[in-house]
Amino acid sequence: MDLNGKTALVTGGSGDIGSAIANALALAGADVAISYVGHKKGAAATADAVRAAGKRSLAVQLDQQDPVAIDAAVDTVVGEFGRVDILVNNAAWNIGIPFSDLAALTADIWDRVLDTNLRGPYLLARAFAPHLRAHKAGRIVNIASVGGLYPGSSSIAYSASKAGLIHLTRCLAVALAPDVTVNCVAPGLVEGTRMAQRLPEEIVRMARSQAVLERVASARDIAAQVVTFCRADSITGQVLVIDGGVPGAMH
Ligand SMILES: NC(=O)c1ccc[n+]([C@@H]2O[C@H](COP(=O)([O-])OP(=O)(O)OC[C@H]3O[C@@H](n4cnc5c(N)ncnc54)[C@H](OP(=O)(O)O)[C@@H]3O)[C@@H](O)[C@H]2O)c1
Repeated sequence: MDLNGKTALVTGGSGDIGSAIANALALAGADVAISYVGHKKGAAATADAVRAAGKRSLAVQLDQQDPVAIDAAVDTVVGEFGRVDILVNNAAWNIGIPFSDLAALTADIWDRVLDTNLRGPYLLARAFAPHLRAHKAGRIVNIASVGGLYPGSSSIAYSASKAGLIHLTRCLAVALAPDVTVNCVAPGLVEGTRMAQRLPEEIVRMARSQAVLERVASARDIAAQVVTFCRADSITGQVLVIDGGVPGAMH
């Protein structure tokens, strides 16, 4: 699919990886709306970068824990752009809690992580589905984590939310075929990001030492893979790991 003239929403576009994805989609020819929850300056910087690439942009404030707010944000994006071809479910929230500390992982934290990282992407896909189907060439790309493939990340809740997002990818690929492809990128550690800063130090050390390429994931490679999934016409239900080559995650 040629991305010129297409329209995307990248959730979490104020964040480190979301801004890279928004830029890459704009350079590939798409107009790009982004969402953010509190970091207005980061969102404005990403929207400015999309405009500097000659494309339309829009920054929408959205707490995707709230189903009503999700529907309102979808209406705003569709109202502004008239169509939406691509949804990138990139927004997520994490907090560093060692797996062994079950007492620290409270019901409230569990709900915040799961509502943001798994229910939100589902509700966004549900709300956008009629628009993505309209031109019979819709795209959803979910940003999960290697923590969804094997146990080890910022917390058990985060790992479980990303495992759910990976399987949601496959379920939606079946549900929305043949009009919409649904794929997933599962990054390992991306150093220098806000999320990486919340990881327990032992996880960071492990990610570095296990990568056979002796470097971890880069936001640029993740963004390039999102563009590749959006351009592809015959790929759906797939998960692509970007982690510097960790043998345990090579399937
Ligand atoms: N960084 C890594 O090492 C790494 C590794 C594997 C996977 N990932 C995945 O990559 C994606 C992007 O991560 P990142 O490193 O770019 O993280 P980040 O810089 O912390 O950005 C997270 C984004 O999600 C938004 N967000 C957080 N809570 C939200 C909520 N309740 N409703 C709506 N938006 C919310 C944030 O908005 P505000 O900026 O307004 O707060 C921000 O735009 C995530 O799905 C993450 O799980 C990251």
